[in-house]
Amino acid sequence: MRLAAFASGRGSNFEALLTARDRGNLPEAEFALLFSDKADARALDVARQRGIDTLHLSPKDFDTRAAYEEAILVVLREKQIEAICLAGYMRLVGDTLLEAYPRRILNIHPALLPSFPGLHGHRDALEYGVKISGCTVHFVDAGVDTGPIVVQRAVEVRDDDTEDILAARILLQEHEAYPEAVDLLTQGKLRVEDRRVIRLD
Ligand code: GAR
Repeated sequence: MRLAAFASGRGSNFEALLTARDRGNLPEAEFALLFSDKADARALDVARQRGIDTLHLSPKDFDTRAAYEEAILVVLREKQIEAICLAGYMRLVGDTLLEAYPRRILNIHPALLPSFPGLHGHRDALEYGVKISGCTVHFVDAGVDTGPIVVQRAVEVRDDDTEDILAARILLQEHEAYPEAVDLLTQGKLRVEDRRVIRLD
């Protein structure tokens, strides 16, 4: 399955996916494009170093989200992309992409959804005082981090955690959870029944 990864920043989850692929753990996945909304995203460098095609488009250059996503979609179609992995892509996905890739867009979020959606998952979990947090890989729908859940991993929250320390502990689990979910998707081993995602492995 030909995949595009979308990233806005560091790109460590994208790297984890590439590493999993290198190790033979994603036999049906081919990363054919890295898209970023940010010109200086480190993820773009990661892709270039690996010889993976990149695309950067700034939403500021488009009047509407639909126009922005149409421009992305032209390239996705050119490259025959079949599914999308959001990997630290800090933007809402609109109807244009959702309709082009129904149940074909995955996202990773640094909290145990449905708790603490949005841009500040770590901070919100710490401030709430939960004792367990983690990460969630889910299908993307029109809401904010609301789509059907594919994989979750839990970590403990310690009394002396800072946002950065908790984020680092969760990130280790993200790097395991995301390849697992992408492998299931690309091998056709996921069936979605309403909100529930059934693993066929
Ligand atoms: C990851 O922790 C990811 O879960 C989070 O951004 C980070 C990106 O790191 N995503 C979100 O918060 C989405 N709402 P990375 O660029 O090193 O993969």
